[in-house]
Amino acid sequence: MSEVARRIVEAADLVTVALDELLARADGPESQLTAAMRYAALGPGKRLRPFFVIETGRMFGLEDGPLLRVACAVECIHTYSLIHDDLPAMDDDDLRRGRPTVHKVYDEATAILAGDALQAAAFEILAHPDTHRDGGVRSEMVLRLATASGARGMCGGQMIDLLGVRDDLGAVARMQRLKTGALIACAFDLPLAMAHVGEAERHSLMAFAQDLGLAYQIVDDLLDAEGDETAMGKKAGKDAERGKANYVTILGASAARERLALLIEQTKSHLEPFGPRADFLRSSVDFVLERRN
Ligand code: IPE
Ligand code: IPE
Ligand code: MG
Ligand code: MG
Ligand code: MG
Repeated sequence: MSEVARRIVEAADLVTVALDELLARADGPESQLTAAMRYAALGPGKRLRPFFVIETGRMFGLEDGPLLRVACAVECIHTYSLIHDDLPAMDDDDLRRGRPTVHKVYDEATAILAGDALQAAAFEILAHPDTHRDGGVRSEMVLRLATASGARGMCGGQMIDLLGVRDDLGAVARMQRLKTGALIACAFDLPLAMAHVGEAERHSLMAFAQDLGLAYQIVDDLLDAEGDETAMGKKAGKDAERGKANYVTILGASAARERLALLIEQTKSHLEPFGPRADFLRSSVDFVLERRN
């Protein structure tokens, strides 16, 4: 196993244990809600956003304890976005992470509430004094995560995706940057707030993270068109079937792959100012984008 693969698995295990501790137990009269939240959040996700939080934090000398809490907050938002994305009113999917989706195991109302409550849990974790002793830093992280998740971030991108973008790559790229790129960029951005990283370095890392987020979604779209359902743990071929506009449905897979290769070079070029300090991030890019699931 490569060093990157090993550290992704290590981060995934740490974050699953931490989420298990942070999320409310499934008891009391509301246990259907907490059970649904736990079912979704503790399922076998790749935990790549948590990995980005932890590795970026380590690059700037932060300790694992607080970083793990921040990683859990980002993963809660991501999990909520997936629960809602799978609802009949959105992508109407039955399979996620190799298991039935939350609304299939429970019901739609429970899935809506589980998403809502995971979103609230993310901000509860970030705002808690255990995450950072400085209230100003906590508030800055809340601001960054809220911006990345809301109407000018993930939710805005989901809206544009649902309304449909027609054969316009610029519009598709903007949609992808919002629906997927914003939260991925935020995974890099939150540790920067904790480490008081200056604007120049933040600017370069955000340019890197935003391009990585777009590339990540293009890989998701390629996998949807060509990937293996069992490996992915979700249905394939659904974007074309639903007439979704993305790089692959507009350009075809081979031209989309050419664009992706250029984008990956551009992504890595943003790391130049960091020199060898960013070597691990550089190798992570290739690993993450060569994924099969
Ligand atoms: C799926 O995200 C949806 C996208 C934004 C591409 P991931 O591929 O990171 O899903 P999990 O967390 O591993 O299930
Ligand atoms: C989802 O994009 C992006 C989110 C913000 C959840 P997709 O709809 O392509 O993700 P999958 O393919 O269902 O995982
Ligand atoms: Mg979708
Ligand atoms: Mg979907
Ligand atoms: Mg997809």
